[in-house]
Amino acid sequence: METIRVLLSEEEVNKKIGEVAAQINADYAGKSVHLICVLKGGVFFMCELAKRITVPVSMDFMSVSSYGDDTKSSGVVRIVKDLDESLAGKHVIIVEDIVDSGRTLAYLKELLMGRGAADIKICTLLDKPSRRVKEVHVDYTCFAIPDEFVVGYGLDYAQKYRNLPYIGVVEGVE
Ligand code: IMP
Ligand code: MG
Repeated sequence: METIRVLLSEEEVNKKIGEVAAQINADYAGKSVHLICVLKGGVFFMCELAKRITVPVSMDFMSVSSYGDDTKSSGVVRIVKDLDESLAGKHVIIVEDIVDSGRTLAYLKELLMGRGAADIKICTLLDKPSRRVKEVHVDYTCFAIPDEFVVGYGLDYAQKYRNLPYIGVVEGVE
């Protein structure tokens, strides 16, 4: 049975989200932001981020899955649930749980660029820069972490542990 070692406490995570939200509030002063949550992992992060944003916020949700298994991702992403709203003229921020190889976000940003947004930025809770295969510009990062498999705050291991209020490393699995 796997165990979870705390990597980032709930206090640390919430403090950092507050700092990133403050940066977004400054960068988007006088504008409104349209947050796009990449389901399911981004949902806890997007809620906590949105609660701390003081410029007008709208939100939409998208669900994608990569073709192939996790280790042999082709970089082609299938849209499982598309956005409900148009992006035309909006200041979009894609909100992700983690950037790993970068394939998902590189593909998603490219795809959404064709939909008429005023601009599109990327905000991620976690980044594993050492794992990058596909270059993608990340505008806001809460934490860069080492190459370890993490769960909590929306991130899962076989659909478990998304509800942990902190970020933990899964240990004891082959
Ligand atoms: P990328 O296309 O390789 O950047 O894939 C990123 C996606 O892989 C994330 O949105 C997560 O769903 C998943 N992922 C990558 N690393 C982890 C991890 O450590 N824990 C849980 N999910 C992860
Ligand atoms: Mg994800």
